[in-house]
Amino acid sequence: MNEHALPHDSARQHVTGSALYVDDVPMPANTLHIATGLAGCAHGDIKRLDLAAVRAAPGVVDVITAADIPGELDVGPVFPGDPLLADGCVEFIGQPIFAVAAETQTQALRAAALADVEYEPRAAVLSVAAALDAELFVLPTRDWQQNDADAALADAAHTLTSELYVRGQEHFYLEGQVAFALPQDDGIYVCTSTQHPSEVQKLVARVLDQPLHRIQIECRRMGGAFGGKESQAAPLACLAALFAERNGRAAKYRMPRRDDMVQTGKRHDFAIRSELGFAADGRITAGRFDIAGKCGYSPDLSEGIVDRAMFHIDNAYFLPASRLRGYPCKTHTVSNTAFRGFGGPQGMLAIEAAMDEAAYALGIDPLTLRKRNLYRPGADRTPYGQKVEQLILPDLIEALENRADYAARRAAIEAANKAANQTTGSLRRGIALTPVKFGISFTTTHLNQAGALVHVYTDGSIEVSHGGTEMGQGLYTKVAQVVARAFGVSRESVRNTATRTDKVPNTSPTAASAAADMNGFAAADACNRIKSALTAYAADYRNHQGELHFADGYVSAPDGSWREPFADFVKAAYMARTPLSATGFYATPDIHFDKVAGKGRPFYYFAHGAAVSEVEIDITSGAYRVNRVDILHDVGDSLNPAIDRGQIEGGFVQGMGWLTTEELLWDDDGRIISDSPANYKIPVAADCPAEFNVSLYDAPNPAPTIHRSKAVGEPPLMLAISVWCALRDACASLSDYRHLPPLAVPATAEQVYFAARASRDFKGAST
Ligand code: MTE
Ligand code: MOS
Repeated sequence: MNEHALPHDSARQHVTGSALYVDDVPMPANTLHIATGLAGCAHGDIKRLDLAAVRAAPGVVDVITAADIPGELDVGPVFPGDPLLADGCVEFIGQPIFAVAAETQTQALRAAALADVEYEPRAAVLSVAAALDAELFVLPTRDWQQNDADAALADAAHTLTSELYVRGQEHFYLEGQVAFALPQDDGIYVCTSTQHPSEVQKLVARVLDQPLHRIQIECRRMGGAFGGKESQAAPLACLAALFAERNGRAAKYRMPRRDDMVQTGKRHDFAIRSELGFAADGRITAGRFDIAGKCGYSPDLSEGIVDRAMFHIDNAYFLPASRLRGYPCKTHTVSNTAFRGFGGPQGMLAIEAAMDEAAYALGIDPLTLRKRNLYRPGADRTPYGQKVEQLILPDLIEALENRADYAARRAAIEAANKAANQTTGSLRRGIALTPVKFGISFTTTHLNQAGALVHVYTDGSIEVSHGGTEMGQGLYTKVAQVVARAFGVSRESVRNTATRTDKVPNTSPTAASAAADMNGFAAADACNRIKSALTAYAADYRNHQGELHFADGYVSAPDGSWREPFADFVKAAYMARTPLSATGFYATPDIHFDKVAGKGRPFYYFAHGAAVSEVEIDITSGAYRVNRVDILHDVGDSLNPAIDRGQIEGGFVQGMGWLTTEELLWDDDGRIISDSPANYKIPVAADCPAEFNVSLYDAPNPAPTIHRSKAVGEPPLMLAISVWCALRDACASLSDYRHLPPLAVPATAEQVYFAARASRDFKGAST
């Protein structure tokens, strides 16, 4: 077992229920509890808002509307557009229009339901198609071109047009959105479940019209976030702070699950049209893509999300000429937000679906076609001009094919399915191998920075703080390991404190999978400063010139002439007045990007992986299960292989949920109907692959990241594309593989049933 494969620092607390989440923190006796009143109209003007019954309800202490906000009303994270409470006009069903604070949460919720509201409805745009027709966008559209794709498509030996509507996904973090605020004598303290403490600080300050230094934000851990708490945690914190400030009392806002599913953003739906040109040998000559994201009513983080769908439309394949058009569509629905992969998964699914269709059209085996088009020497420029420097996918895929015995299994499955077609048997199997190449860095360049603060105490115990937040992904464990390695002490000697804006300021969100890369390096930088101070101390007081060696709990001379326990050494250094605390900083080098031209080097490096999934469907009902999954994933020289394996398994299963059972549904008025666990199905233990083989591709990151590791948080989610492709493959078997039927996303049992039937009833020639 790898020496770095240590358990998550909170593993024991997680499973015994003793980990403290925001809602578990003991509150002062007179805490106020908050609820919001939600709009019942998708788009319209508020004609009348009568809150008399709300104010008169039992336990109600305070009720506010947009007019009561002392500072700015808008809490848009990057662009304006998100009023904390609707101001005159509502833009989706469920938008908060007023807020109540009461003695108990139940009283607040009951009171919030008593408002008398009347709307003057306006035309509501509820779909991507309608927004495209109306040219209604939340941000400018994009048009990125490299070489002449239009001409190359006109000249191509074969062309293929593919359309895919990819649906969104509810985050379904187990800990819902929550924050509380405590008034202080010189400001306000907010404890919140957020991926972005510095932004919560900024928005609370703005809403209260106070300077940043009066606002302290703290987050010890989240019970899952998945992107859903990057921007959308802030409104809760703002309302809690506002009520605390107005009433001089603690105020807590814990959103009920249903409100959370109604009024917080989700993964974006995307409608993607792909046109691919192929040479006779199956090599892609050009790609033209129209990529339209359902952003909802406001920009939120949609610029980066539509961009990332565009960045990943190539997935792992070289497009000699390309044209990518991006459309951030405005709809009168909740504002969609970050979700693991940030638009990348939707783009990648579109080209993977198109690759399978092309394989049928060209009569080439799907995996052969994929391998023929992988980035390779001389064919290594992405559509945005970045060179893919590490070309490991051909090798990684071959290794996976061998481990998973792909070719033999594929042949056996095809034969068994064809035989079953001659009988009344209802089971069919499908298999697919799909690759992942995912760019690591924030595509907004300035976010690629991190800070850390390290204290060495006189007993040799060490405390580290940094700008990253812990959402279950194991960031605190990894950063603590980096610090322990730097000082050559045990993991137990290091504690990662809660993330606080007054410890490490001006931080970036914990997102884009880059937190361990960035905060790990920032922490290492702080350690190096302390080690320099200790080296100077040894030179002045110990008659030891040059480097010190830190290992196994000892500080020693590199030649082994002396050694001393770390704790004794730092105690002595303290007595000689040596600084034992330092800040560290890191900014990712060599990245830049022009968003309008679509050119640059947005990513510091790429993470890679591939998966083989085998499924079994029952054509009489569409029910299916995932029999076996084999994954080979590239995490560089892992900071913690145990945690990385957990991220790969968890990310894969979450991706599988998105593409199979998690179905977001709205009614014709724009009201979400999948608003509870009773009508929205996330994967559970029984849905996990019966056989699940996860291996780490063992190669250090050629980019000089911390200990040559790689980011792992998001990329494995996209390995689940292989499940969707395998389901479609199983359906295609009903036509003896002459016809690849369309398959909806998510591929619920119902949709698998329809696709299998379409294939079975296929009468034409091979498609
Ligand atoms: N893992 C757990 N257990 N819970 C989460 O909420 N979020 C994912 C991923 N893994 C998440 C998770 C997302 S969306 C991101 S961007 C990364 O973790 C963020 O953390 P990292 O940068 O430390 O990988
Ligand atoms: Mo992750 S979607 O970047 O928070």
